[in-house]
Amino acid sequence: MFEQDLARSLEPIRKMFLAQSIHALFNAQLFEKLKGNSTQTVTELADLSGMSSYRLEGLILYLKNEGLVDFHRGEVPFLTDLGLSLENSKPWYQLLVGGYGKTLLDLPSTLHDRNQYGSRVGEFVGRGSCGISQFDALPMTKELISALDEVPGCIVDIGCGDGSYLIDLCRTFPDAKALGIEPDDASVKVANDLIAKSDLGGRAEILKGDLELVADLDAIPRNTVFVIAFVLQEALEQSGRSKVVEILRRLKKRHPLGKVVVIEVDRADRDSEKMTSELGLGYYNPYFLLHRLTEQKLETPEFWNDVFSEAGWDIARQTHPETSYDSLGLKIGYLLC
Ligand SMILES: C[S@@+](CC[C@H](N)C(=O)[O-])C[C@H]1O[C@@H](n2cnc3c(N)ncnc32)[C@H](O)[C@@H]1O
Repeated sequence: MFEQDLARSLEPIRKMFLAQSIHALFNAQLFEKLKGNSTQTVTELADLSGMSSYRLEGLILYLKNEGLVDFHRGEVPFLTDLGLSLENSKPWYQLLVGGYGKTLLDLPSTLHDRNQYGSRVGEFVGRGSCGISQFDALPMTKELISALDEVPGCIVDIGCGDGSYLIDLCRTFPDAKALGIEPDDASVKVANDLIAKSDLGGRAEILKGDLELVADLDAIPRNTVFVIAFVLQEALEQSGRSKVVEILRRLKKRHPLGKVVVIEVDRADRDSEKMTSELGLGYYNPYFLLHRLTEQKLETPEFWNDVFSEAGWDIARQTHPETSYDSLGLKIGYLLC
């Protein structure tokens, strides 16, 4: 084998190491410390962050060789323009590397058994998903809620992850009380901490629970909006289609004047034009794979249309992300009345 062929076939491994290292850079708050006018040497940075300077130097030299970091006066590390350009992508690293990196380690065994699910790190799934949602699902949710004739008296965010989506909705709709429901313990804690640090006083609250709980909530205003973003896909694999229909039907019965915002992703893994676009290969292709490996299931818009209609909900409006950010139209927001 020629050196050039070997180097080319090692490219995916290089990218795997790079993705893990970038996630560590964000997660250890090193990104913040290395941007702008950093003045600390590696040893000072390590002392300040409670890290081993030997290990940190290894990471920084690795990133320098990849062009993300450079040194002032040969000793003060800082992020290059290439490094800085990654800043907005932090939640994608949180979700796909921090949340689902483990899932791929389980791939050999999950391939053999449809009933075995790959593991994931719930806290990073919640943080990453809510962070990505700031760019798409949240603006879509705001657009759908703003189209209503009446401002919501209460917003219930089911599967609220780290709570940041709910906090943002609270700020946009200041007359609404807010309730987050989340089954993952670590995410409940992160969400409670975020709310405690926010200026929302007693307006927002987090309950530990799942989709089922929402159909049993009482003492909430008649003009409540229920937000179910990227959660029906989880409930579908956990409990099956008929259970999801049953819960949505009970919700309609108990809150006939309530509205529901659902955000889902169209399962388009056979659409080779979309899937081989740059964003398709960078995001949706790994996203679709990990959904087949973990306890969730993506479906088509036709599937969800039938589920909503069977449960007694009409689709009043639909939307997609801003096309300059994502032109593939695979994320769909529904307003159900
Ligand atoms: C992909 S994240 C979505 C987070 C947030 N809604 C967003 O839009 O970014 C899915 C969340 O749903 C939660 N979840 C999983 N199964 C659920 C269920 N049956 N009912 C409610 N939430 C669930 C997960 O713990 C996770 O926080």
